[in-house]
Amino acid sequence: GLVNLWAMNSTFFMCKPDAVERGLIGEIIRRIEATGLKIVRAELRVVDEATAKAHYAEHEGKPFFGELISFITSSPVFVTEISGPDGTWEIVRKLMGKTNPAEAAPGTIRGDLATSISANLVHGSDSADSARRELANFFPVR
Ligand code: TYD
Ligand code: MG
Repeated sequence: GLVNLWAMNSTFFMCKPDAVERGLIGEIIRRIEATGLKIVRAELRVVDEATAKAHYAEHEGKPFFGELISFITSSPVFVTEISGPDGTWEIVRKLMGKTNPAEAAPGTIRGDLATSISANLVHGSDSADSARRELANFFPVR
C-alpha cells in the first residue's frame, strides 16, 4: 500500500516533554495527519542521555546545550516516524514553524501553541540526511 511505497521518504518527528505534559499530542498529530502524511511508527518513551546527545550533537558546545539535553530527557516524549512523498521532512518543518515561537507564523504548531524557544513543543528532521540519521538513532531496530 501507500505506506510501503513511501517508506523511503520518512522523517523523524517528536513531541517534546512540554507537548506531552500540556496534553497536546493529539492536537499536534492531528495537524500532521490532516496533510495526508502517515504516522508509521510511534512510541511514548523517556529518552536516555546518550540518545539525546547523539540526536543534538550539532549543538554540542552551544550555551543552550546543557539545558536542551536535560529538558529532552526530563519526562516522556512522543517519538514518531512519519511517511509521505519526497520532501516529507520539509512539509513537517513547515507545519512546525520557526524555532523561536516569536518568529513562527500563525497557523504553525509553534506559532499557535508555543511561547518559549527552549520549550517549543516539537522536533522535526531538517533534511533527508538528518531524517535517516535521527530515525536510526531513535529506532535502531528497523
Ligand atoms: P535548532 O536545531 O536550531 O532548532 P529546531 O528545533 O527548529 O531544529 O535547535 C534545537 C533546539 O534547541 C530548539 O528546538 C530549542 C533549543 N534551542 C534553545 O533552547 N535556544 C536557542 O537559542 C536555540 C537556537 C535552540
Ligand atoms: Mg534542528
